[in-house]
Amino acid sequence: MKVLFDVDTGVDDAFALLYAIFKPQYEIVGISTVCGNVESWLAAENTLKILDLADAPDIPVVQGASAPLKGRWEGRVSTIHGDNGLGNIELLKSKRRLHEEDTADFHMRLAELYEGELVLITLGPLTNVARTLEKYPSFSKKVKKMVMMGGTIYSRGNVSPVGEANIVCDPEACDAVFLSGMDITAVGLDVTMKVRLKEAHMEWLARCCSPRAGRAVEFLNEALKHYWYGNQVQNYCIGDCPVHDPLAVMYAGTPSLMRTETRRARVECGGSYCRGMVVTDLREHPIPGGDVSFALEVDPERALRELLSPFWEI
Ligand code: BDR
Ligand code: CA
Repeated sequence: MKVLFDVDTGVDDAFALLYAIFKPQYEIVGISTVCGNVESWLAAENTLKILDLADAPDIPVVQGASAPLKGRWEGRVSTIHGDNGLGNIELLKSKRRLHEEDTADFHMRLAELYEGELVLITLGPLTNVARTLEKYPSFSKKVKKMVMMGGTIYSRGNVSPVGEANIVCDPEACDAVFLSGMDITAVGLDVTMKVRLKEAHMEWLARCCSPRAGRAVEFLNEALKHYWYGNQVQNYCIGDCPVHDPLAVMYAGTPSLMRTETRRARVECGGSYCRGMVVTDLREHPIPGGDVSFALEVDPERALRELLSPFWEI
């Protein structure tokens, strides 16, 4: 599977990238970064460091949008991801260079190069993707499908009563993407909050991982300490944390992990309490909008086994 990632590399984005790098099923052909958990320049630096950690091949990484389409960015999500986005673990600065290309051009070039094959996986706010669609509306039909981490239908929000962080950061972008006609599956809090990673899982992985994944697992164990703590403070998780971004990557490769439902969807772009809420319409004549498939159920045990397996199989 040829994969184009769009990320805001924080701790769980890092985990998701490492999973994909170590899983042979995924061929990462490009990565763009967006402002979300951290600034897009820091997300780019973090991404290069993660590629180093996994001894990944040369993958082009472009630095994308540094602010949402409208409104202002709220700043780094330090409680969850640490001040540097990587749980305050200082990895060596990478010697890899960023790829210099306009993000929309980069996206479209890859979509044309791998027309009908490219799977777009987004792990952050959708600013870059919305901009690409604005410049190249046909992008929506050139990619095979898009899997996004974001949103919630039935679970409570994580940054507002009804909003999930990636969408609340840039609701206008997500709404535009929903309307684009792209084949989209949203893997949101309805499933990610149900898959809980415990310290014991990671201790086990530290003992059993393959030598090639050793440095990556050591890093994850350190970075997750901050992530566990942050999730305890913000999400009432005691002794475990939700698996957000990796689950979107896993869905792209193993859709049978989840049950999805297609619904007509828009994103609330106004309001004080509901900005960033995903609104789906189950009426016979729903509001005009895009048909989006939402992951609503997951097999948590199977998902956790799948999450860890590349780290010992590689
Ligand atoms: C999403 O927000 C970010 O903090 C995570 O990286 C994930 O993409 C979860 O709501
Ligand atoms: Ca993310």
